Amino acid sequence: MSAKIQAIRGMNDLLPTDGPVWTWLEAKIRAVFGQYGYQEIRFPIVETTSLFVRSLGEVTDIVEKEMYTFVDSLNGESLTLRPEGTASTIRAVLEHNLLYDGPKRLWYAGPMFRHEKPQRGRYRQFHQFGLEALGFPGPDVEAEQIILTARLWRELGFSKDDVALQLNTLGNTEARARYREKLIEYFSAHQDSLGDDEKRRLHTNPLRILDSKNPALQRVISLAPISRDYIDQESLEHYATLKELLRAAGIVPLDNPRLVRGLDYYNRTVFEWVTNKLGSQGTICAGGRYDGLIEQLGGKPAPGCGFALGVERLIELMKECAVVTDALTPDAYIVHHGDGAMQAAFSAAEAARDAGLAIVLHAGGGNFKAQLKRADGSAARYAIILGEDEVKSGRLSLKPLRGQGEQATIDLTQAIESIKQGRTHGSL
Ligand code: HAM
Repeated sequence: MSAKIQAIRGMNDLLPTDGPVWTWLEAKIRAVFGQYGYQEIRFPIVETTSLFVRSLGEVTDIVEKEMYTFVDSLNGESLTLRPEGTASTIRAVLEHNLLYDGPKRLWYAGPMFRHEKPQRGRYRQFHQFGLEALGFPGPDVEAEQIILTARLWRELGFSKDDVALQLNTLGNTEARARYREKLIEYFSAHQDSLGDDEKRRLHTNPLRILDSKNPALQRVISLAPISRDYIDQESLEHYATLKELLRAAGIVPLDNPRLVRGLDYYNRTVFEWVTNKLGSQGTICAGGRYDGLIEQLGGKPAPGCGFALGVERLIELMKECAVVTDALTPDAYIVHHGDGAMQAAFSAAEAARDAGLAIVLHAGGGNFKAQLKRADGSAARYAIILGEDEVKSGRLSLKPLRGQGEQATIDLTQAIESIKQGRTHGSL
């Protein structure tokens, strides 16, 4: 036997047991995004490498060491599997001149790729739902995006104790530059505590040192200057209005002046929704404002802000919180045996599907015992049994497969009705 080929480390298959829950979650997210007037955009999974280098920042973890970059052997072009969706959204918007008639609210979904160390909640191929509002300068649209996410948490059944909103403002470009200088000054005075990575970052991206997990550095980091002291007045007012709008909507943000985010394009507002139920990978949603990015990618200056949700982490959190879903599982499994039974089974299955039911029709023959075993092993709630007697009498037997209830011999219309009435909500 030849060796089995396995999936690439950190890249997961979605198996049929999880499929219905993913579909359910995706439908919920799409519905909520749509309720706020966001429109879908799709873009390729592969882009020119320079798109990400120019937008995410050269000295970020993603660009320095996590991108799946390769040379197209046919034309020598450097290509990269998308590590996130904001850069591609802006690229597509500029390429198709979508902002010509005013601001836009857009959303996207799909797999993203980062060569990270795989662990629970951190994968090399993972899935995001993201949205971007382009051309809106004010805090109103940020408030709206955060209020949207809070609605989604309610829809998913998360309580206020399950997720917390961390919020910060980074100020405008000049404020960030001032703060950067201060950090260089401060960390230069603590050179001895810096590891190799931090020393390298000192002059290129000192803000990232604040994110360092290096235990020897934690005390120095805790005493470092905080960005809030260098923020411009206008950004502070923007921030104050955002918080007021959130409070009025019943959302209490946790001010976190040390929240900096791992991508370079942010200014002013940054936020993360964090849960303490998933261990170290507890950020289920993250984003912020990026007013310089569109210009940086060659467009006419226009503001932007958005966020992305991590689908794998949301699924994990739904499991932790035992969220109840009405994910579609088969309503019935039809078994059939004997003269004329297959014909009758086909037509009963189609009639039940016409009535909106999800039906698995047994295929592959076998006696009733074997077929009923299959029905039991399926996720279906009922078995519909069609044998010669049933075919003759124009009826069928309906057998509940989970929970209580007696087997009954009834006609198809009655069976469809009882199956519909007995529809329950599944749980994870
Ligand atoms: P990000 O913080 O890099 O931001 O990713 C957003 C979310 O994607 C994270 O909070 C997390 O839930 C999920 N995520 C990220 N990396 C992984 C991974 N390796 N495995 C599993 N889940 C992961 C962005 O990507 C920005 N583009 C968000 C944004 C949109 N900002 C403005 N607009």
